[in-house]
Amino acid sequence: TSSNVVNIVEVGPRDGLQNEKGSIVPVDLKVQLIDRLVKAGVTNVEAGSFVSPKWVPQMSGTAEVLKKKTHVPNVHYACLVPNQRGLDDLLTLLSSSQHQQPPLTDEISIFTAATDAFTRANLNCNISESLARLAPVARKALDNNIRVRGYVSVVIACPYTGKVDYKKVREVSKALIDMGCYEVSLGDTVGQGTPFDISEMIAEVTKDVPVSNLAGHFHDTFGTAVANVMAALDSGIRTIDSSVGGLGGCPYSPGATGNVATEDILYALQNSPYTVGGTANGTIDLSQMVDIGWWISEKLGRESVSRVGRAIRAR
Ligand code: HMG
Ligand code: MG
Repeated sequence: TSSNVVNIVEVGPRDGLQNEKGSIVPVDLKVQLIDRLVKAGVTNVEAGSFVSPKWVPQMSGTAEVLKKKTHVPNVHYACLVPNQRGLDDLLTLLSSSQHQQPPLTDEISIFTAATDAFTRANLNCNISESLARLAPVARKALDNNIRVRGYVSVVIACPYTGKVDYKKVREVSKALIDMGCYEVSLGDTVGQGTPFDISEMIAEVTKDVPVSNLAGHFHDTFGTAVANVMAALDSGIRTIDSSVGGLGGCPYSPGATGNVATEDILYALQNSPYTVGGTANGTIDLSQMVDIGWWISEKLGRESVSRVGRAIRAR
């Protein structure tokens, strides 16, 4: 029987902010966001990306963000890495701050997709080239005591080629596990999936990958993300990626909206058999998350798009 603890990976500072148009979100604001999330009980937070600043300008300050944040023990501040260059930049930063205990980060996320067209848009290569490129990155990270998480994008539908073959999702997920990823996060990048689609896709992937090594990553474009989280939990998944205030979108998925809001998951799982939080007695505080969702959204010049955040604020 599976555990009833649901782990949240808070991706707002990365998946949320990477898509901001206009001026670059200041490092200090990113740092405040990360520190507030951790204070509210988050134990896994994506802090940024070591990607090309030409491709994703918003993530260019990630090294500064890592240095300036509070370094809380037992919190994983994962960073996305697309290639060897990204990992080498991170390792240089870590060796120049060796005195820092705990280290600035102990986790990277590598990413690819279930279609060649999306992989080309996101990484400028096809799936098999991306896997060949990522395998030595994963090995080197593991050799440096950095754990590796994998992402598969467009697990349901691709903005360029439409409906996705779940067998391909299974094959790519397996390849990421085989190169040493402790977990693979299944991304409905377009946010088009329904609960039924999610269950069917997970049933296919779990033919090759244990469900305990999978996470769900659902964008909310069609308003099905909370329902998709429930479908993923029913299928045995216990790690969910979400974004405070429902921040975000994907720069290479036109029209896609943000991730499922963390507040909305916390609310939906109240009075359920599930406890939310990665630690033994740790939980994530709903009212603090609502406040953070509004605070960061207003800093970005808009309102929170979390349904729960809006409902609570309206009372
Ligand atoms: P490329 O243009 O083929 O690479 O891009 P290149 O090797 O020719 O390099 C181009 C330039 O970038 C060079 O600089 C390199 O030095 C530099 P120039 O000589 O022109 O001045 N460069 C780098 N700079 C900093 N850090 C690096 C790096 N690598 C090269 N690591 C590349 C290939 C992989 C670099 C590019 O495609 C890239 O950065 N892609 C990242 C895209 C990205 O971050 N996407 C968003 C994250 S994924 C996502 O959101 C989905 C997810 O949420 C799940 C879901 O929802 O599905 C995870
Ligand atoms: Mg995403």
